[in-house]
Amino acid sequence: RGWAIILAGGSGTRLWPMSRSLLPKQLLALNGEKTLLQQTAQRLLGKLPPERIVTVTNEEHFFEVCNQLAELHPDLKQHVLKEPMARNTLPAIMLGMDRISLHAQQPLVGIFPSDHMIGGQDQFESDWEEALNLADQDWFVTFGIPPRKPETGYGYIAKSEELSAKAFRVAGFVEKPPLDKAQEFVSGGTHYWNSGMFVIPGKAFLEAVEELQPDLWIWWQGREATPLADGYKGIPEISIDYGIMEHAGHLAVVEAGFKWDDLGSWEAMFRMGDKSDDQCVITGDVLALDCRESLFFSSGGKLAVVGLEKMAVVQTRDATLVCPLDQVQRVKDVVGRLKAEK
Ligand code: GDD
Ligand code: MG
Repeated sequence: RGWAIILAGGSGTRLWPMSRSLLPKQLLALNGEKTLLQQTAQRLLGKLPPERIVTVTNEEHFFEVCNQLAELHPDLKQHVLKEPMARNTLPAIMLGMDRISLHAQQPLVGIFPSDHMIGGQDQFESDWEEALNLADQDWFVTFGIPPRKPETGYGYIAKSEELSAKAFRVAGFVEKPPLDKAQEFVSGGTHYWNSGMFVIPGKAFLEAVEELQPDLWIWWQGREATPLADGYKGIPEISIDYGIMEHAGHLAVVEAGFKWDDLGSWEAMFRMGDKSDDQCVITGDVLALDCRESLFFSSGGKLAVVGLEKMAVVQTRDATLVCPLDQVQRVKDVVGRLKAEK
């Protein structure tokens, strides 16, 4: 039952210098042999045949995405769509819906970002099944993660009455709140993190786009008359979270039984990684002497580190980051500076 859209067009910045615009987070093997994109597709293949999995990416990453998917299943790459330019997640989803609507009038569509780590395939599949049941009754379904800290990079979902053993009606959805709000949400105990995955009833979703995003709707309706690159240029850049979910009425949340991490920073990579006896997470050709509680990563030759504590050192072929682990959020300032200098 159902369809899936994999979103694979983001440009990672928070894992600089490992993730760059040419090789964003989803295309890297950060926590195992397979890349995050491959792990995402593999998870979905547990429940869907490859022809029901549509992947949306951009020009720049198209070949790499196709290659990575083909390694998993040769048919997956037949369903990779290429955006002429990045317009954030809602237009990408509409592109996926265009392909799906050729085959199904009332599809139940799962939307899956490709930049997460998820643990527990059985739980994932049973939560997805639960979401499909709700979407079949016209609910827009989100997956809620019990929050571990007041993270401001996520959306928050407030739950209200129970719909089933693990699903609730949503009282409100707030995308990326300021810190004081996030703190309130976490201590209140009534909010979840939005995992960024959704299951939507296709027809009702398109109706919501028509109502809430009329400019996007006009493009969608006339899409066959204009070349994609021309039409896409003029549409608004907007995420599904801001564009639809914050305003949608019939919203439900399934409490995720699976493990989830967005691997959004070197601190998260440290937290999730396998630790050595000295509590270090070490990847690549690294010699570490008398170091503790640190992350060392090299994909660019030998890295030697001595006497460090609570540090992140990340070396690639042409760029290196050295930063205390508790300040890695500032990597986005580094990327901002480098972009401004270009
Ligand atoms: N095809 C395509 N085109 N994909 C895109 C684009 C685009 O223009 N922009 C982003 N994506 C992909 C990313 O690669 C990622 O897999 C997914 O869409 C989500 O985009 P992000 O840019 O990573 O979103 P976010 O992390 O800021 O926020 C979302 O995820 C959080 C959890 O990680 C939101 O849904 C939040 O509410 C949520 O908490
Ligand atoms: Mg993300």
